[in-house]
Amino acid sequence: MPHTVAAPGNMAVRAMLERTAVGLDIDQLRRDTPGIAHVAHFNNAGAALPPEPVLRAVVEHLQTEARIGGYEAASAAQEATAATYAAVGELLGCQSDEIALVDCATRAWEAAFHSLPLKAGDRILTGQAEYASNVLSYLHAERRRGVTVEVIPDDAHGQFDVAELERRMGPDVGLVALTHVPTNGGLVNPAAAVGAVARAAGVPFLLDACQSAGQIALDVRDLRCDMLSATGRKYLRGPRGTGFLYVRRDFAERLEPATVDLHSATWISRSEYRLAPGARRFETWESAVANRIGLGVAVRYALDIGVGAISHRTAMLADRLRAALRELPGVTVRDKGERLCGIVTFTKAGETGSLLSARLRRQAINTSVAVREHTRFDMDERGLDEMVRASVHCYNTDEEIARLVAAVAAAR
Ligand SMILES: Cc1ncc(COP(=O)(O)O)c(C=O)c1O
Repeated sequence: MPHTVAAPGNMAVRAMLERTAVGLDIDQLRRDTPGIAHVAHFNNAGAALPPEPVLRAVVEHLQTEARIGGYEAASAAQEATAATYAAVGELLGCQSDEIALVDCATRAWEAAFHSLPLKAGDRILTGQAEYASNVLSYLHAERRRGVTVEVIPDDAHGQFDVAELERRMGPDVGLVALTHVPTNGGLVNPAAAVGAVARAAGVPFLLDACQSAGQIALDVRDLRCDMLSATGRKYLRGPRGTGFLYVRRDFAERLEPATVDLHSATWISRSEYRLAPGARRFETWESAVANRIGLGVAVRYALDIGVGAISHRTAMLADRLRAALRELPGVTVRDKGERLCGIVTFTKAGETGSLLSARLRRQAINTSVAVREHTRFDMDERGLDEMVRASVHCYNTDEEIARLVAAVAAAR
């Protein structure tokens, strides 16, 4: 069974725990996480260490496939895959039929973006923290469809400027698209405020929640997003090769996916097809069933712990890490924004981010490197080439943070 602090069905207790962020049993969390025996893992915004129940669910399904056949195993696992849709729906505060399961956040985001009926002259409004793959799609749409992309500068706190968005809204805005938490820092953009502006103007709002899903409570009704994309392997601790897309039900019914197959549509006569209802029209027939099941187990595991509790502990540990790093000579913490999450970025004078991260890796401390090409709007603005990214999860400990800080401080 996944680590639980409240019976899975006990909504009132869970809601209370989410509010107060009490009750996290760190020892249990760590017993559930085999990887902690081998590494101090601060690459949770890359791919978190999966908990044992996720690992077991994936391996067991692969074994069943080998034993009885892949199609037969999928058929026997229908309940488990249905549970994945239900868990993701619960995570986001939406219905199961508003969820498409895909193989990564990029595919989810692209499926939504390329289905929008954008035309020449339409403006796309986005933020400075936007992720490279999203921007590449905007540039692609500029070339192929004649749309224009406008980057709203950050406000004085270093986060998306909602007032500036309001000023720039107009009848030619075809999309508002926001990265909730960027790949290159602890910033949490004010997504709900952005959603409110977009909804009031009747403009579609696409939220990239890839880095926030699993570490920040998400409710699509509060966020007022029409579409939301996320991945399974990061803060949700699911298997690699998993992702999902939320599309609001009545909005989905108006969208024609950029690609169709015999799962997303049915060939009903020689020259006609009918799209699958809701978000299913954004899926493909083939999928890694074991991964899908693993994703559901991961989401249920996070829900059982409480995303509020995860969020609280993760942000608290990240704050402690930032405070300790600020004490080190030559180290500059680079996170900006009014609200910060579990991602910590920093630079060290005299040692590049790549060299420092590789040095830490040799000491079994996992971090990653945020490079200019992945968030160019922001990195260009700040004149940064690369930063070390240490992304904390709730299963990390103060001891691991102390190890990381000591290793950063050590001479190279
Ligand atoms: C903000 C953001 N969006 C999207 C993605 C892409 O996710 P995936 O690799 O699952 O496609 C990432 C990956 O790091 C990301 O940081």
